[in-house]
Amino acid sequence: MKKIIITLTVLLIAWSALLPQSKIGNETAAQKEQRMKWWTDARFGMFIHWGLYALPARHEWVKHNERLTNEQYQNYFEEFNPVNYDPVKWAKAAKQAGMKYAVLTSKHHEGFCLFDSKLTDYKSTNTPIKRDLVKEFVDAFRAEGLKVGFYYSLIDWHHPDFTIDRVHPQRVTSSAEYETLNKGKDMNRYRTYLHDQIKELLTNYGKIDILWLDFSYPGENGKGRDDWGAIELIKMVRKLQPGIIIDNRLDLNDYEDGYDFETPEQVSPSKLAEYKGKYWETCQTFSGSWGYYRDESSWKTQRQLLDLLITSTANGGNLLLNVGPTAKGEFDYRATEAIEKIGYWMQANSESIYNCTYAPDEFGIPENIDARLTYNPERRRLYLHLFDYSSGGKIRLKGYKDKIKYAQLLNDNSEIRYQSNDNDIIFELPTQKPPYEVPVIELILK
Ligand code: GLC
Repeated sequence: MKKIIITLTVLLIAWSALLPQSKIGNETAAQKEQRMKWWTDARFGMFIHWGLYALPARHEWVKHNERLTNEQYQNYFEEFNPVNYDPVKWAKAAKQAGMKYAVLTSKHHEGFCLFDSKLTDYKSTNTPIKRDLVKEFVDAFRAEGLKVGFYYSLIDWHHPDFTIDRVHPQRVTSSAEYETLNKGKDMNRYRTYLHDQIKELLTNYGKIDILWLDFSYPGENGKGRDDWGAIELIKMVRKLQPGIIIDNRLDLNDYEDGYDFETPEQVSPSKLAEYKGKYWETCQTFSGSWGYYRDESSWKTQRQLLDLLITSTANGGNLLLNVGPTAKGEFDYRATEAIEKIGYWMQANSESIYNCTYAPDEFGIPENIDARLTYNPERRRLYLHLFDYSSGGKIRLKGYKDKIKYAQLLNDNSEIRYQSNDNDIIFELPTQKPPYEVPVIELILK
């Protein structure tokens, strides 16, 4: 009997895996591909985490980490005065780095709104700066030809109706304590606020290209789709902005169209191959935190950042690279330097990133050297990124014989000579390493 039950259960699971996933709307896969096209071509965007937490400058989760109350956090609201905020400068920096879109935190978990919401007083227009920072961001980035997106925190540690849960600054340990603390709080009211604020964001600022909702943590003393009214919410978003692209943190991952792309956060390049074949974007910080963190010292090197960008493209995904501006409204010197260095590389090598993806299986990477391959299917070009470079050295590409028409360095279009040997081709690297951290060889296919 036990055996039969086990067999039936296994069969049931196998059968349900074969069933098509539920859908909320009726977009076809081809229509989605079309809607996503600018984004998959772009490959590279800027994340911007900015809010009151830039003042304490010790992590955007400072309210949670130090269990601060609204009263204790109030100083940051009263002193928020980023007089040097000039989003035109930010937009030019993003563009110069080769980024094609930007996503700004319109509200983070702390609940503070960078936009002039009619639904709360907890907003930038009520601080000394008195400006709608989101509006200025949108205008500046659009003017530079970049697509614009809003990050919006589903979580809100300031709203009086947002019930205290296990990630809240005032979290407790027992269900009984939660019950007492949450008396009088009404998540229905918060849900209405959440929907209405997103409506404001998607109505008052013109065409918005991306909505980055963050995040769900269902289960005991957590929050998920029912707390957010997720199905209704996503329907409203798609109705207000039919072309918009939405991340996967609304807790609707069992719906085929409950999200548009996956969001592997802070994963190492070696993990990115797992996402091949899907729509995905890895979000990454320069250092450990998203918000400005003055004393953080673990900043990624230029090589690590390029590795993330190139390896993302080589696996068919995007990189959303984060800047946490200061309380004065500027990118700090470390971020500025990192962005400029990427810009220097992109200036010469961006053709190996834009419109590129992973190469067809028949093309492998050389053995014994650290390299990544990207591929532009429309132009039929392969891009070999050399993380190792031995001057005058030889590189063997197996099975490439008769498939290559011409080869050149991408940064200056100088010819790279090669010979055929059996089924392979063998390159000779120039005696001088090109002045780029990761040089790229462009292989034009027959
Ligand atoms: C996390 C964090 C958050 C950050 C986000 C970016 O979910 O809560 O601080 O905004 O990741 O991916």
